[in-house]
Amino acid sequence: MPSLLLLAGDGIGPEVMAATERVIHFFNKRGAGFELQSGLVGGTAVDNEGAPISEATLAKAMAADAILFGAVGGPQYDGLSYDMRPEAGLLRLRKHFDLFANIRPAICYPALADSSSLKREVVEGLDIIILRELTGGVYFGEPKTIEELGNGQKRAIDTQVYDTYEIDRIGRAAFDLARTRRNHVTSMEKRNVMKTGVLWREVMEETHKDGYEDVTLDHMLADAGAMQLVRNPKQFDVIVCDNLFGDMLSDIAAQLTGSLGMLPSASLGAVDSTTGRRRALYEPVHGSAPDIAGKGIANPIAMIASFGMALQYSFGMVAEAKALDAAIAETLAEGLRTADIAAPGDEAVGTTEMTDAILGNLEMSLR
Ligand code: NAD
Ligand code: IPM
Ligand code: MN
Repeated sequence: MPSLLLLAGDGIGPEVMAATERVIHFFNKRGAGFELQSGLVGGTAVDNEGAPISEATLAKAMAADAILFGAVGGPQYDGLSYDMRPEAGLLRLRKHFDLFANIRPAICYPALADSSSLKREVVEGLDIIILRELTGGVYFGEPKTIEELGNGQKRAIDTQVYDTYEIDRIGRAAFDLARTRRNHVTSMEKRNVMKTGVLWREVMEETHKDGYEDVTLDHMLADAGAMQLVRNPKQFDVIVCDNLFGDMLSDIAAQLTGSLGMLPSASLGAVDSTTGRRRALYEPVHGSAPDIAGKGIANPIAMIASFGMALQYSFGMVAEAKALDAAIAETLAEGLRTADIAAPGDEAVGTTEMTDAILGNLEMSLR
């Protein structure tokens, strides 16, 4: 039986996870047989288990075929030490399972072309992927410290580190992904100021020569890339970049689609050569949205579409993933809008109504 560990987390995490559980149950009623376990992560885990992720939860994650992750964080945890922050639970999961390839698709559904802050013609038909390296770079490099200098001053140090193998494997993932799409990879770094940028580009070129020359590879400095992402995002197919640039570029890309509440993601590990399987965690790109938590108005689409990515990447249920995506597109085409994607003056629906409509359309499309 396929198994999923649900880690809802904080803020709107449990709200969008509850919506997604309804979608999972829908597939179970049709015989999918997903076995569900749940666990605590983030601030709720700090409050109840004394750490942002417990060893017991990590063990459950190890036993599951895939993890669905909601969101973590909140202002009430701002005073905690770095290792006790809710976000540390997520970072630990990524590192523990070596989930180095973070696929963040940014698709502008036709019905939402006017919901973006950019002009319709800039975003209409947009379908790009930001492939973010997720287990290296400045997020994890050592030293990572804040020290007292003794003269009333402090010094904070973060370290950006990349080894050849880390760049090579994310490069291969980018080329493989591009082959299933429009065959075009744009690698973004800052080789003009960063040594890791110099190595990044060098390794991308080497990896490209190693059997991937049928894929077009372009390079862009990441600052110019950020500008191009807003100026003319449809020029891209797959953008590959380091952990921090990927974090920022994917939030920019989210806004092209109308809202951060629309962007799903998959974080994948290497394919195990004996089992053929890969570790995987699926999560929306957005956070715990403390400003709207508890109001029942969060957009569940990013979380539901993250489960869609699990259907595709972890369970080979491609037809079901397509049906779910079509149900989301249809629901948007019917005019349903949560507040984040509603035009001024439009009536917005809540999380439950949006989920009801998606389930209704799913039922119709699979009938
Ligand atoms: P955020 O993504 O939580 O929210 C940014 C803005 O987008 C807010 O106005 C919010 O209301 C809106 N928004 C986000 N998701 C939405 C949805 N599904 N529906 C409707 N509106 C939505 O980012 P933030 O406010 O900068 O961070 C809040 C907390 O979340 C912080 O503690 C941060 O560290 C954490 N965070 C967690 C994750 C994660 O768990 N993967 C990701 C990003 C931020
Ligand atoms: C994301 C988030 C995380 C990140 C935080 C919550 C650790 O912003 O997944 O985009 O910075 O990677
Ligand atoms: Mn982010």
